[in-house]
Amino acid sequence: MTVKIAPISESLATFFDQNEYSHIAILVDEFTNKYCLPIIQDLLPSNFTKILIKSGEHHKNLATCEQVWDRMTKANMDRHSLLVNLGGGVIGDLGGFCASTYKRGIDFIQIPTTLLAQVDASVGGKLGIDFHGLKNHIGVFQLPKAVLIDPKFIDTLSIQQKKSGFAEIIKHCLIRDEKEWSAIRQQSFEELDLSKLIAHSVAIKEAVVLEDPKEAGLRKILNFGHTLGHAIETYLLDKGKRKILHGEAIAIGMIVEAFISHQRDLISLQELEEIESYLFENYGRVKLHTEEISKIIALTAQDKKNKGKEIRFSLLTGLGDCGYDIPVSASEMKKAIQYYLN
Ligand SMILES: NC(=O)c1ccc[n+]([C@@H]2O[C@H](COP(=O)([O-])OP(=O)(O)OC[C@H]3O[C@@H](n4cnc5c(N)ncnc54)[C@H](O)[C@@H]3O)[C@@H](O)[C@H]2O)c1
Ligand SMILES: [Zn+2]
Repeated sequence: MTVKIAPISESLATFFDQNEYSHIAILVDEFTNKYCLPIIQDLLPSNFTKILIKSGEHHKNLATCEQVWDRMTKANMDRHSLLVNLGGGVIGDLGGFCASTYKRGIDFIQIPTTLLAQVDASVGGKLGIDFHGLKNHIGVFQLPKAVLIDPKFIDTLSIQQKKSGFAEIIKHCLIRDEKEWSAIRQQSFEELDLSKLIAHSVAIKEAVVLEDPKEAGLRKILNFGHTLGHAIETYLLDKGKRKILHGEAIAIGMIVEAFISHQRDLISLQELEEIESYLFENYGRVKLHTEEISKIIALTAQDKKNKGKEIRFSLLTGLGDCGYDIPVSASEMKKAIQYYLN
């Protein structure tokens, strides 16, 4: 897999110069159809098939996969075809999954168009869909032929969506680069050089994934903030207006899990306070009712890092350092969520 950070007019043209396909389909949702496809349309062969799906996590499911497979079949796509996933993490995860399973697998490339997808979802070959309310429950590991990142795509994103992606940038700094964490926490979101931070995050994620592609060990550090973050995201998924974005949930998860790290003497109180104040400043505080805590904790039972009944976390073992496979009890989780809420 090659990850290229460059103007898309250059990277996509080079990709097509170096690779030949019998047919090309492009997967978009209504927003990337409107904002992103026009940017690359002229670089695609004139007979490409456009597959348009509805945007949002809500549609990252088997029914949407069926639509995609149906369109690919009707376009007579053979095994020498290519699927171009143009969109955020939902398009990348779902499109990659559809391509990897269509006729036992065809090539696909990721052109991530949200900050979250550029710094995280598009890199590392995790693909999949949600199932019966469980996030990324069905999926595969499969690397795309290329990941082509152009920071320009994010110009049309809302500030809320950009901040959702920024949470993963913060995570990458906290688990691997104390110096960069110290640098970003001195700046407001508006002051940050996002292009530079995209490259920084991609380098961290690539290095970790290269060492442990299938998440046998080290890769689990990328899940810092995600055990309880995912549980909260899942819990709020069907709660109407209370639904939050992935990165917003991870921001909560990072505060809660940093608290657990502190309780275990892995980080100091000052370090915890630095983390929580920056995250509260950027993401505010989400309200949860006391009686919801046990329902959220129950959802961690589905976490893919668990072994048997043990709920295993990736916890900071210092700033810029992270451990994994650390069992955490329900009472510790409860105390940590209560800390967040107060
Ligand atoms: N595979 C992985 O390793 C991995 C890692 C992190 C997250 N994820 C997954 O990624 C998903 C979240 O990704 P996301 O935050 O990108 O969500 P998303 O794909 O839903 O995109 C967010 C919204 O932005 C719109 N959009 C996309 N690009 C745009 C642009 N350039 N301008 C304007 N609007 C645009 C989309 O249509 C959508 O409405 C989740 O499903 C999560 O599970 C996967
Ligand atoms: Zn994430």
